[in-house]
This record gives sequence, structure tokens and C-alpha cells, in this order.
Amino acid sequence: MVTDTLSRPLRDLRISVTDRCNFRCVYCMPKEVFGRDFQFLSREELLSFEEIERLTRAFLGHGVRKVRLTGGEPLVRRELEKLVALLARLPEIDLTMTTNGLLLPQKAAALKAAGLQRVTISLDSLDEAVFQAMNDVGASVESVLRGIEAAEQAGLHPIKINMVVKRGVNESSVLPMVRYFRERGHVLRLIEFMDVGHSNGWRLDDVVPARELVETIDAEFPLEPLEANYRGEVANRYRFRDGAGEFGLIASVTQPFCADCSRARLSADGKLYTCLFAVTGTDLRGLLRGGASDDEIHAAIGAVWQRRTDRYSEIRSAATVDLPKVEMSYIGG
Ligand code: GTP
Ligand code: 5AD
Ligand code: SF4
Ligand code: SF4
Repeated sequence: MVTDTLSRPLRDLRISVTDRCNFRCVYCMPKEVFGRDFQFLSREELLSFEEIERLTRAFLGHGVRKVRLTGGEPLVRRELEKLVALLARLPEIDLTMTTNGLLLPQKAAALKAAGLQRVTISLDSLDEAVFQAMNDVGASVESVLRGIEAAEQAGLHPIKINMVVKRGVNESSVLPMVRYFRERGHVLRLIEFMDVGHSNGWRLDDVVPARELVETIDAEFPLEPLEANYRGEVANRYRFRDGAGEFGLIASVTQPFCADCSRARLSADGKLYTCLFAVTGTDLRGLLRGGASDDEIHAAIGAVWQRRTDRYSEIRSAATVDLPKVEMSYIGG
């Protein structure tokens, strides 16, 4: 395989395995857009597991060390454990998944056996009314907690919990979430609500700045900042001074981290996106299905990465919010 040095590291590959979801958070898949008429990808359009594995190997050749399966909801893709088994054979990767947790009771043990190392589970509130207002399918808090428990029992550690915080919607859920997950040893990450896609009705006023969240939490549980685990880490980490673990803040709106962005995204139909807020991706599926060699695929990925200049979160403004963007459920969080 050709080896070349990229001027900007490419460490983290997020692979969307489906654009569908059994959950429909209002900030990600609002029903006005993703209703009955929405055209989801067809089966032929999706990359096969073998195609995903081949592309992943090409990314590993560029230095990728973390591979995250996302969606949509990754667990709605049938037999996902077969893909996990293929990827788990690849050398030296941190193999993880972001899921809403609903299907973990059925799937956690098989995923672990196939080689999945850990999971991140999305949960925006422990309050049933608040939570149900944030998804369009009436999913209960209890159903997600059962998923978290299944992940625990299967040994998918460490477990991280992603909570998107939206002003006036689930701010009051922050402290109860902190109390609950610190006791259980899971790493909660509070995420500033972002203007992903072109349909989530984002306004800057909806964002609760990370600084404010730290102050709120520090007043109850004194905190201390932690060093990043690695350059370009998405979350700012804090430890509880009483020794009860840590939590993270993902301040992508108020403290953008584009300068160190080392994340590439592969959509379920094989397009490569270099930013969560991109408009267009580069078609790798066409190359694969057109008979390109491994070296050609590797070179195509390197060329896209070398050209990238994305820094959307740094230039976000009232003017950028309404620009067309790819949907988050399509390229994965
Ligand atoms: P680990 O800590 O290794 O588990 O991964 P991570 O920190 O990359 O976490 P995860 O993939 O769960 O990302 C958490 C959230 O941060 C995502 O769901 C997004 O909301 C946000 N996020 C992740 N990557 C980016 C990015 O490149 N740009 C922006 N603006 N937000 C991101
Ligand atoms: N802002 C911030 N985070 C978001 N996510 C989805 N939509 C948004 C948004 N608008 C997060 C979810 C999930 C991950 C896939 O992306 O909470 O954890
Ligand atoms: Fe589904 Fe995840 Fe999007 Fe929520 S954030 S609608 S769980 S894909
Ligand atoms: Fe990377 Fe784009 Fe996120 Fe900036 S906004 S950190 S460039 S994905």
C-alpha cells in the first residue's frame, strides 16, 4: 500500500451504517422533514459490510485509529454484529459505537462477542415528560436505561452518555443526569445544541454555553479540569474533586475545536465528508464498485483530506445557519 504523510492528521473515522432511526429526536429528525414521504436510502445504495471493511482499511493506511459506528441509529442495520466482527479483526483500532440504546438489550452481548469495545449512548433527560418531548416516537427513559444496563452487563466499557442540552427544554435535567451517572461510574458528556442539517430550527439563544453548565455543576459538585487525552479531543474533561469520576463538555458552538479536527465521516452510501456541516461529499462507493484498486482508493481519500479547509464551527454566524447542510442522521454524529 502507498504510504504518504498527511499534513493534517486523520485519526477518527465515523461510519454511518444507515440513515434510518427508530427514535427521531426533534433536534435531529423532526417529523416535518422525516415524515412519511422522506426518501431514505435503499438497500442497494447502502455500502455492504465488505465494502465498509475495505474502505476502513484504506483509512487505516492514513493513520485512522478510532472507528465509530453511527447512523441514523446503527442498530437498526440488520446483523450489525457481522460488520463489527469484520472491523474488530483490523489491527490497533478503538472500535466503538454511538447508539440511542433502544436495541441494546437484544444486541449488546452479540456486539461484545463480535469485538465491539465500548458504546456511547444518547440520553437527554431522566424526566419522562421532558424526554418524550424530545423524541417523536414516544420512547421512554426506561427503555434507554435498559439499554445502558445491557451494555454494562455485556462489558462494553467505558460507557459514555451523550446529552444534548437545549435552553428551556432540558436544562433542568442537567443536575439530575450528573447525579445519576456519576454514581454509576459512566462518563456523561453535555453537548451544546448545534445547527446541524437544515431542518432543526436552531437559534443561538437555544444554546446553553458550556461555561454556564460548568458553573452550575461546580456549585453542587466542585470540579477540576483535566488534561485532554489526546490533541483534538472533542470533549473538555472535568473530574469531580470528591473522586467520583469525570464528565465532559462538548462546546462545539461556544469553543469550536476545528483547528484540531481529525475526523472524517463516511455516509451509509459511501460518501466521504470532511465536516459535520459539509454540503457535499466525495463518492467512494463509485470507486469501489467501479473496480478501483486499494491503492487508488487510498490515494483518493488522501487527496480529499489534503484539500480540506473546513472550519464551520469557527465561522458559524447568523449567516451560516441557513446555509444548506447535510443532515446529521445521514452522516452520523
Ligand atoms: P470518544 O470520546 O472517543 O468516545 O469520542 P468523541 O468525543 O468523539 O465522542 P462522540 O463521537 O460521541 O461525539 C460526541 C458529540 O460531539 C457528537 O455526537 C457531536 O454532537 C459532537 N461532535 C463530534 N465530533 C464533532 C465535530 O467534528 N464537530 C462538531 N462540531 N461536533 C462534533
Ligand atoms: N446538536 C448537538 N448534538 C447533536 N446530536 C444529534 N443532533 C445534535 C445537535 N443538533 C448528537 C446526539 C447523539 C449524537 C449522534 O449526536 O445526541 O449523541
Ligand atoms: Fe436518531 Fe441519534 Fe438522530 Fe436521535 S440523534 S434521531 S437517536 S440518529
Ligand atoms: Fe471539524 Fe467541521 Fe466540526 Fe469544525 S465544524 S470540528 S471542521 S467537523
